Amino acid sequence: MIRRTHTCGECRETHAGQTVSLNGWVNRYRDHGNLIFIDLRDRFGMTQLVFDREQKGGSQALLDAADKLRNEDVIAVTGVVRLRASDPNPKLATGKVEVVVTELEVLGKTQNPPFLPDDTAKLPNEELRLKFRYMDLRRPRMQQILALRHKVYQTTRRYFDENGFLEIETPILYKSTPEGAREFIVPSRNVPGHWYALPQSPQLFKQILMVAGCDRYMQICRCFRDEDPRADRQAEFTQVDLEMSFVRREHVMDMMEGYVRRLWKDVAGVDVPPIQKMTYREAMERFGIDRPDTRYGLEIRDISDVAAKMELGFFKEALAKGADRPKFNSKRGVVKAIRVPGGGGAEKLTRKLTDGYNEFVRSFGAGGCAVVKLNAQGMFETGIAKFVEPVKTELTAALGLQPGDTVLFVADAYAVCTKALGELRQKVARDIGVVPKPGAEGGPWNFLIVIDFPMFERDKETNRWVAMHHPFTAPRDDQAEAFVKADVDDEVTIESIVSAGYDIVLNGQEIAGGSIRIHDPAVQGKVFQLLGMTPEQAKEKFSFLLEALSYGAPPHGGIAFGLDRLVMNFAGTENIRDVMAFPKTQIGADLMTGAPGFVTPDQLAEVHLKSTWTPPPASPGGG
Ligand code: AMO
Repeated sequence: MIRRTHTCGECRETHAGQTVSLNGWVNRYRDHGNLIFIDLRDRFGMTQLVFDREQKGGSQALLDAADKLRNEDVIAVTGVVRLRASDPNPKLATGKVEVVVTELEVLGKTQNPPFLPDDTAKLPNEELRLKFRYMDLRRPRMQQILALRHKVYQTTRRYFDENGFLEIETPILYKSTPEGAREFIVPSRNVPGHWYALPQSPQLFKQILMVAGCDRYMQICRCFRDEDPRADRQAEFTQVDLEMSFVRREHVMDMMEGYVRRLWKDVAGVDVPPIQKMTYREAMERFGIDRPDTRYGLEIRDISDVAAKMELGFFKEALAKGADRPKFNSKRGVVKAIRVPGGGGAEKLTRKLTDGYNEFVRSFGAGGCAVVKLNAQGMFETGIAKFVEPVKTELTAALGLQPGDTVLFVADAYAVCTKALGELRQKVARDIGVVPKPGAEGGPWNFLIVIDFPMFERDKETNRWVAMHHPFTAPRDDQAEAFVKADVDDEVTIESIVSAGYDIVLNGQEIAGGSIRIHDPAVQGKVFQLLGMTPEQAKEKFSFLLEALSYGAPPHGGIAFGLDRLVMNFAGTENIRDVMAFPKTQIGADLMTGAPGFVTPDQLAEVHLKSTWTPPPASPGGG
């Protein structure tokens, strides 16, 4: 009969003398002949059990039964709490007591476990952890992460409830709408040849909830994007999704800053100072990326003016590109540099590393990375030294050079050069070891709100304009004139339009993204047109949105936080799979359940489908 008076984390010295019943897993087993010690574990902690034939209530039968127990068996025990005579365990909350067992019942036997849920041992490979996820989740570390995640949900719900948000669920079976990522699609049984898509986010539903008068919406929701997973990306992930009516972007940003502050206080006990705002342009200029990691320097400088005076063929070639275009046009040529300070890591940049940077920047489309070192005597060395010497004074002033520094240069079109150096900056930081440990381990929490993104960017593959946030993002209030003038073929105007979008960045990771939305159907129609949609296509995909906007839509805006990423930060892990109970592998497989799996031809026929896939032929000689 199952009885449970206390959890395994509960007993203290004050319980001494009490009879208690505990349930849990056998975590560790030590046989001392007449005495058997077992550490009993549940979600709440661990308690030492003693089986002692000599003690009151003890017996040989009890000792024999205990002797048959193995790690990870599930048992129920009843016994008396006593102070540990010797070796109290200061690492355990229950470490000053033990329970002398008088009754034992085995509730569940285990077969030989594939691995033990022991945080102190080396972790098995991740494949095994995912296949036996229930075993992996038994580890105290994983239990702690699940509890952190729970806390994030609770604080989130409390904060938004206190601020007048309604939690509203939106459908998972949804209509296919091109929002950016590839969709997962689901065949309809009732309507042959038709498909649902799983939502990439509830974006349009939350906007329509604003048209519906809900005013403030929140949801902790699942999103689905059929993309290849990365360290901080899964195809199926969770957002804290939010939308507000009658707001300007400052109102949304203030509300979200309040949320971040509350969350960090409640979950990590940290007071987040007011969050700095940075424009997209500044982020790109200084850090080469729209989610800068500001925990270290290594800033990028545009040294085009100095470079123009250097007799260096590839600098001149780069600078000649698009010289007639405006300063920040993606195709205009520039020369940019990163100064790696002597004493601040430059000494770690070996020849092997800097040679490798050539290849590295090439993978982002740049021609290469030129390097010079300023030696202790103040003379340039290596690579392009003799070309730099004549402009020494200007370059020293532009970059604040000191003896011992190394300078890395990239020359190319603005977009390529910025991207290549933005990536290189992060690589150099890792190479010279200046990236602090994740915040949870005492490193700084550097939050940043990035604003004033361009509305549109050119998709390299299709050469079409795409929305930088999503197609429902409004132009910034003051952009009406350029927006009205914009035309698909007028690259300079389109590139110049600034949106009312914003991202929240933490230590170089995008933890949230949002915007003020378009609430005027005519403006929305023009955006669809600039994105290359015909009016018919826009109607076919988005008539419900355009229609809804035409029935009295309030100005509105919102944001979505990547909940998994928030938990990653609190847990101090760089692996998103660590913060999900049942994550998927690199190819989207669930190793525990075996999803994705086969379905029967009958199931396919029911949804009017026939698979054209045939299994590959077995390899010759294969088993
Ligand atoms: P966005 O696509 O920027 O915006 O997503 C919002 C936040 O969700 C997180 N995120 C992810 N986390 C894990 N795995 C993924 N594949 C993944 N993709 C995104 C990021 C990101 O900042 N509807 C808009 C929000 C809005 O405009 O209100 C949206 O989904 O932390």
